[in-house]
Amino acid sequence: MRLFHKIAVVLVAAAAIPLGTVGFAVVSTNQRALESEVRARFDQTARHAAEAVAADVEGRARQLAQTAAMITWDKLDPDEARGALELLRRQAKAAAAALYDDAGKISVQSGDVALLGERAPRERARKEGAGAIVFSTPYSAPTGVTLAGAVAVRHGVVALAIPLEPQALRLVEVRGDQRVRVSLIDDSGKPIAASTPLGQAAQPASAAVVAEAVGGKDGHARRYLDKDQSVVAAFAPVGGLGWSVVVEDDTERAFAAPRRMRRLTLLVTGVAGLLAIGLAFAFARRLTAALERLSDAARAFGRGKLDERVELETADEVGALARTFNQMGGELQTSRAEIEKWNRELEARVEERTFELKAAQAQLVQAQKLAALGQLGAGVAHEINNPLGGVLGHVQLLLADRPSDDRDYEALQCIDEAARKASHVVQNLLRFSVQHKDPVRTPVDANKLVRDTLSLTQTLLAEQKIAIALLLDPSAPRCRADAGQIGQVLLNLVANARTAMANQGGALTVRTKKIEKGGGESEVAISVEDTGKGIDPAHRDRIFEPFFTTKDEWSNVGLGLSVSYRIISEHGGRIEVASEVGHGSTFTVYLPS
Ligand SMILES: Nc1ncnc2c1ncn2[C@@H]1O[C@H](COP(=O)(O)OP(=O)(O)OP(=O)(O)O)[C@@H](O)[C@H]1O
Ligand SMILES: [Mg+2]
Repeated sequence: MRLFHKIAVVLVAAAAIPLGTVGFAVVSTNQRALESEVRARFDQTARHAAEAVAADVEGRARQLAQTAAMITWDKLDPDEARGALELLRRQAKAAAAALYDDAGKISVQSGDVALLGERAPRERARKEGAGAIVFSTPYSAPTGVTLAGAVAVRHGVVALAIPLEPQALRLVEVRGDQRVRVSLIDDSGKPIAASTPLGQAAQPASAAVVAEAVGGKDGHARRYLDKDQSVVAAFAPVGGLGWSVVVEDDTERAFAAPRRMRRLTLLVTGVAGLLAIGLAFAFARRLTAALERLSDAARAFGRGKLDERVELETADEVGALARTFNQMGGELQTSRAEIEKWNRELEARVEERTFELKAAQAQLVQAQKLAALGQLGAGVAHEINNPLGGVLGHVQLLLADRPSDDRDYEALQCIDEAARKASHVVQNLLRFSVQHKDPVRTPVDANKLVRDTLSLTQTLLAEQKIAIALLLDPSAPRCRADAGQIGQVLLNLVANARTAMANQGGALTVRTKKIEKGGGESEVAISVEDTGKGIDPAHRDRIFEPFFTTKDEWSNVGLGLSVSYRIISEHGGRIEVASEVGHGSTFTVYLPS
C-alpha cells in the first residue's frame, strides 16, 4: 500500500467515521424527538376534540333536561305546549321535537318528526326519571347523522332529533390546519361525525383503531396496520357518552417532517463526508507529491546530479525539509568541488614528484654508470700507463742517439707522438677515475667565482669574436662548495660553449641567481648560455657519458661533462640542459646554499 493510500485511508477514516456517527446520532435523536412530538400532537388533538364534544353534547343535554323538567306540560294548552317545545328544539338545535303522552302518542310536535321515527329511547328516559336525558345511538337521517334524545316529563316524554353535523364543525375547529382526520365514533364504532363533512366521509376511521377505541384501550398515539395501510392514530373517550374521538393520518404523511429532516441531515452528512474525503485525498496527494519530488531529487543526488533542487515554497515541515535538502545539495556541491580541486592538486603533485623521481633515478643510473666506467678506466689506465711510460722512455733515448737524417728518425718520431697521445688519453682517464676525497667546502661567492673563471678564458673568447654578458644576481648568492672544482666545471661549460660557437662567433651569457626553495632552504643557479649549434636530440641522452664526444680534435676526449657531472653530484647539486639545434644551449648548475 502506497503512502498516498495510507494517508488517504487514515484521513478518510478520521473524518468520515466521526461525521457518520454524529450524523446518525443526530438523525435518530431528532427523528425520535420529532415523531414523539407528532404523537403528542395527535394525543392532544384527540383529547381536545373529545373534551369539546363532551362539553357541547353533555352541556346542552343538561340544559335541555333542566328546561324540560321545569315546564309543567300538563297545565299548558296546546299552543303553549307547542311554543315550549319549539323553544326546546331551538335550544337543543334539534331538527325535530315531539312530546309523547303516557300512551306513547305524539301530543305536540315541532319540526319534521319523521326524523325521529321510533328512535327516541322513551322507555329508558322514563326509567331514568324526570330531569335526565338519554340518547339513542346515532343514526342516519336525511339531514345527516342524527341523535335522538329523550327526557321524561310529567305525563310524557319529550323527544328530540339532534343532527350531529355541528359536532363535525367542532372537530374541524379542533383539528385547525392540521392535515389529520378527526372522527367521532359511538360506542359500537359507528361514525358519528368526521372532520370532513359527513357526506364525504369516504374514509371512516381505520377498523383496527376503532376496535381498540371501542374496546376502551389506551388511546395514546401509535401505529396501526390496517389493510396494508400504515396509519398513526390516537383516540380519546368523549365524557360519559361512550363515544370516542379518533385522530389519525397516514404514517407516511404524519411522519413526513421527521423523514424530511432525516433525509436532509443524511444529505448534509453525506455532502460533508464527501467534502472531507475530497479534502483528505487532496491533502494526501499534496503531501505525497512533495515527498515524491524530494525522493526524485535524492535519486538525482545519488546519480551525482548535485545541482538538482526542490522548489517548495510552503511554510510547513515539508517546506523546511525541502529547504534543508537544497542546502545539503549546495554543501555537497561545494565539497565535491573542493574534493575535485584537491584531486587535481594531488594529481599535479604526483606528476611533479614522479617527474622528480624519474630524474633522480636517471641521475642514479648515470652515477652508477660513471662509477663502473671509472673503475674500468682506472684499471685499464693503470695497466697501460707503465708500459706506455717504458715505450716513451725508450723512444726518447733512441731519438736522442740519432741525427735527424737517420732513416729511423721519422718512424721513431711517429711512435713518440702516438705514445704521447695514448699517454694523454691515459692521463685523462686517470683524471676521471681518480677517487676524490670529499670536496673541501667553504662559502663561495658565486658571482666572484664566475668573474674569476671567465677572466681566465676571456682572451680565447675574444679571439673567437664571442661577446660575453654577465647577468649576476645582485644579492650575491653564496654556496658551500669547493671553489677550485666548481671553477673547473665552469671552465668545462665555457669551453664547450666556445667550441659550439667556433668559426661563427656569438654571445655567451653567464647568469647567477638565488632560488628560495621554502623552509629556509635556498640554492644557487649558475647558467652558461651560448648561441652555438645546439645539441642533436639523438645525442642529448649521451653527453654526460665519459668519452662521448662529437669533436674530432684529438684533444677532446669527451670527459668534460662527465667530470663536471660527478663534481656537481658530489656537491649535492645537479646540472640541467636546455638546447635547440641551430640556436644554442644553456647548461645550468644548481648548488645548495
Ligand atoms: N655547449 C654545447 N653546444 C653543443 N654541444 C655541446 C655543448 N657542450 C657539450 N656538447 C656536446 O657534448 C659532447 C661532450 O662534451 P664533453 O665536454 O663531455 O666532451 P668534449 O668537449 O667533446 O671533450 P673534452 O671536454 O673532453 O675536451 C661534446 O662533444 C658535444 O657534442
Ligand atoms: Mg668539453
